[in-house]
Amino acid sequence: MKNFTNYTAYDKKEKYKDDTKAVRGALGHDPVTGAISFPIFQSATYRHISIKENTNFNYSRIINPTREEFERTMALLDHGAAAFATSSGMAAISLVLTMLKSKEHILISDDIYGGTIRACTDTLKNNNISYTQVDFTNFDEVVKNTKPNTKMMFIETPTNPMMKVADIKKISDYAHSLGIMVVVDNTFLTSYYQKPLLLGADLVVYSATKYIAGHNDVLAGVVVAKTNEQAEYLKTEMAIHGACLSPMDSWLALRGLKTLGLRMERHNANAMKVAEFLRNHPKVKKIYYVGFKDHPEYEISLKQSTGFGGMISFELDSIETVNKFLEKLNLILFAESLGGVESLITHPASRTHTEVSKEIREKLGISDTLLRLSVGIEDVEDIINDLKNALEN
Ligand SMILES: Cc1ncc(COP(=O)(O)O)c(C=O)c1O
Repeated sequence: MKNFTNYTAYDKKEKYKDDTKAVRGALGHDPVTGAISFPIFQSATYRHISIKENTNFNYSRIINPTREEFERTMALLDHGAAAFATSSGMAAISLVLTMLKSKEHILISDDIYGGTIRACTDTLKNNNISYTQVDFTNFDEVVKNTKPNTKMMFIETPTNPMMKVADIKKISDYAHSLGIMVVVDNTFLTSYYQKPLLLGADLVVYSATKYIAGHNDVLAGVVVAKTNEQAEYLKTEMAIHGACLSPMDSWLALRGLKTLGLRMERHNANAMKVAEFLRNHPKVKKIYYVGFKDHPEYEISLKQSTGFGGMISFELDSIETVNKFLEKLNLILFAESLGGVESLITHPASRTHTEVSKEIREKLGISDTLLRLSVGIEDVEDIINDLKNALEN
């Protein structure tokens, strides 16, 4: 029988399948008391036994057992060397961007979360780091825009909100041939459906606020590192910047993670039915959903992920229809964010993508009549009836 006597030693559980890893965690339960719900270590600091002896814990900005349990579980699920849990998804992205130095260049997806663009236009520019937005679904464009000083490619896939899918392996192979690091924002699919490190990427970032925690009750981010070397760098930067996830929020994220598989399956199944309904509705002009066989990158999705997720974007015929539709929705809530158990809808042009210029928005297809729906895990009939009612009245 295994008998853990401290928080440092843990069974990596690599032999288990993902659902087991997510439910049972890294340590899984408190090794000292046996508590099944991993304790919330709400302590800023730790008592040392003597100068020579300590518990491996010193100060909660650096290390905290609850956060560590969440981080280790995330690293297990993504097959990384280590993971770092941050106070938001943006803190995770900002942490990764510190890997760039002055005069270096980064390629980022053209269609990407607005906050990531702001980090590039503000923080990176102030540090003399340049960036180019490219369509990662167009390999020739990636090659054309790669510069001698390009050091990182930051890919969101599927993209937000246009649901474009980049070939992670193809891009990683190309980037590595030039010594360029590849980062994937895996917020939309999570490790349950897509494992970027196994496809060749170097780092994975998450807004764990979304599917990972899953209940719209916590802000969190995660960076998963592939190698110990990256992990050492990130550990130091985490300690310097201090945007670590609190013990309580780490516990909420850890609890959310236990049902990741169940929730993702339901989001996926519901989204498929909702997408079919929307596609056949006369008021819906266009629909963007990764799970359609005629989606331009459907074959790539099948190759690199095991599900399509719960996100759908669609266009209505006019801004008047959009306004009326949003007002008439009853069950589906008009709110920012995604990936929680509740169905949420947003209007990217006026909410999540205001950082993107109108010109780029139009080029990408983020029109004023585009809506982004995060399909929740409610009964799908109720979701469809709510959409039907709002579209038809
Ligand atoms: C794909 C993606 N990445 C990152 C973020 C930022 O995460 P957070 O809001 O947790 O800072 C978001 C937020 O919406 C997102 O959608």
